[in-house]
Amino acid sequence: MPANLEGYRFFIKTFGCQMNENDSEHVAGLLIRAGAATAPSPEESDIILVNTCAVRKKSEDKIDSFLGRLSPLKKDRDRLIGVLGCVAQLRREDLFKKRPEIDFIVGPDHYHELASLLSQKREGKLLKTSWSRAWHEIGSAETLRESRISAYVPIMEGCDKFCAYCVVPFSRGREKCRPMGGILAEVLDLAKNGYKEVQLLGQNVNSYRDAKAGEDFAGLLKMISRIEGIEWIRFITSHPKDLSSEIARTMADNPNICRQLHLPLQSGSTAMLAMMNRGYTREEYLDKTTLLKGLMPDIALSTDIIVGFPGETEADFEETLDALKKVGFANIFSFRYSPRPRTAASKIRDDVPLDVKRERLIVLQELQKDIQLARNRTFIGKVLKVLCLGESKKGAGRYSGRSEGFQVVNFSSTRDVRNCFINVLITGCGPYSLHGEANL
Ligand code: 5AD
Ligand code: SF4
Repeated sequence: MPANLEGYRFFIKTFGCQMNENDSEHVAGLLIRAGAATAPSPEESDIILVNTCAVRKKSEDKIDSFLGRLSPLKKDRDRLIGVLGCVAQLRREDLFKKRPEIDFIVGPDHYHELASLLSQKREGKLLKTSWSRAWHEIGSAETLRESRISAYVPIMEGCDKFCAYCVVPFSRGREKCRPMGGILAEVLDLAKNGYKEVQLLGQNVNSYRDAKAGEDFAGLLKMISRIEGIEWIRFITSHPKDLSSEIARTMADNPNICRQLHLPLQSGSTAMLAMMNRGYTREEYLDKTTLLKGLMPDIALSTDIIVGFPGETEADFEETLDALKKVGFANIFSFRYSPRPRTAASKIRDDVPLDVKRERLIVLQELQKDIQLARNRTFIGKVLKVLCLGESKKGAGRYSGRSEGFQVVNFSSTRDVRNCFINVLITGCGPYSLHGEANL
């Protein structure tokens, strides 16, 4: 029976990473294809979907409070409320017990059939969280994209690394790669439709492999870089252990692969990295950044840091600070460690006191703020190519975009430059953004 959701209006709230954002675009596209329409708010919708993130305790708490706010909406009309994403996959039927307002729970391996599941849904609760190694292809035509210039393209999902703190191998499952044919077809289609930037997505893109085509991630990058029309190629997330010199060289050889890389360090202490099961030492990480900078002197590196992992001493933390100074990251995402269910670290005592974690996070962020401010100042007076993503909140004539290094650039322009590449003269900066004027 074909899915039929005609007359239904849906609203999706997305938490978490780019993978979740892309999944929500897929789900929206598939529901529209089945006849449903988008609604501007939960109040005006018949189906409310909450796409969830389980990576940190804080992300899960945010979702709990959002679901709590939805619960009164159940009373005034017959609405369906569903939970998708990592919390759905992780908590499964437990969620029904805790939150009676939820009607369905669907994990990432079932999005391709969500429209038909909802069309057939009658009484009772619906739970679909089984998982397999098969890749379910959802193409460009079934994706309702937020942007008409920059597109996410999933290339793999899940993770086999089992870092001690990380819930992802349990919420997203083991690594599975998308066949290369589907990826190339999607990028070609995007190029044909005027897209200029693609962001390849996966929990560990560097371990991409298509056994049938005999290609690894570097091979895939080379193929994509030959597709005409795509000017900027990015990928996220890379694992330092799997970032080969071949990948670094492929980036350096192809100017349409952005000089930008997100390379999570997590800790600058080799002892902590071993406890975290990261599979590299401080020196190996620093060597890779030296190699990258040697090949691409203008590369913008960013990273993730966890402070207060069990057993982290003041000396370990100092090593993290020192690594930040040595690398000079363009941006960092930093978090206080929180134990997550089923992970190896959740079985050891969370022994760094909360006030110490808080203090370390502040010290780390203050140091990084200074590093970024100094780095950002070096761009003043230069002209940067910027992909304008929209108007800025500041009002008429003000726009916002990203540079090749993925920095936020706010600028003024007398011409409407939304969804265009534009050269911007950088006239000032703060620690978190650059600003300037369009060079028309
Ligand atoms: N506690 C704190 N931060 C975490 N991250 C993942 N798991 C945890 C955890 N249990 C951070 C890591 C990862 C980013 C997406 O979230 O830095 O790279
Ligand atoms: Fe989590 Fe580690 Fe896999 Fe990244 S590499 S998703 S931190 S288990």
